[in-house]
Amino acid sequence: MGAPNMQAIDIDRLGKVASKTGPSYLAHWVLKSAQRDKLVPWYRKVLGMELVFQNHMVTFLTYDHEHHRLAIIKLPAAAKPMILLAKVYRKFYGLDHIAFNFGSLRQLLEKHRELKAAGIEPVWCINHGPTTSIYYEDPDGNRLEFQSDNFDTAEDFQQFAIGLDFHKNPIGVNFDPELLWQKLEAGVPLVELRKRGSATPAGKKPVAGLRAINWRTL
Ligand SMILES: [Fe+2]
Repeated sequence: MGAPNMQAIDIDRLGKVASKTGPSYLAHWVLKSAQRDKLVPWYRKVLGMELVFQNHMVTFLTYDHEHHRLAIIKLPAAAKPMILLAKVYRKFYGLDHIAFNFGSLRQLLEKHRELKAAGIEPVWCINHGPTTSIYYEDPDGNRLEFQSDNFDTAEDFQQFAIGLDFHKNPIGVNFDPELLWQKLEAGVPLVELRKRGSATPAGKKPVAGLRAINWRTL
């Protein structure tokens, strides 16, 4: 295996300088759906969104200062057969997911517990290395990643990324969110909890790399 292929990053510039030619920020995304009645409550719960506007054609939702972060265009019921097709299509081409950062591992795991109590289970829990990530799918199969950062600085991440472990396995190691929560509550240091393989159930082999990819997690 060759040396890790890392592009040098000017760390001092990261997060401090906006691109001169790119946009200021990501404003919103838009979904088309034949089951808006299911999507609206799902997004209100999962992303803590408020309903800003709704009529017979479109719904606007937001979770912050932006007037709408998500718009849902209502399709006729005749489009419902497309749902299964869309779920399969996403697994193989185009937009895979949208990622949302939570301020801390605790906030991420609290969100998981809140959603679990509401009957909303993740499709995948994996420590990628740079992030601890929990994936959800809306009723149409659109995928969201909830993540918390495992490194406090870009420099720390770069140190990790040049290592052979990340080079061999850039996908990550699955984790048990309930076990990770128990360890957090027991006072295990954050630096340990953020490591890949930190919450593998006792007696089980870590599920890592390509072995973490299956029909559900794809
Ligand atoms: Fe991601």
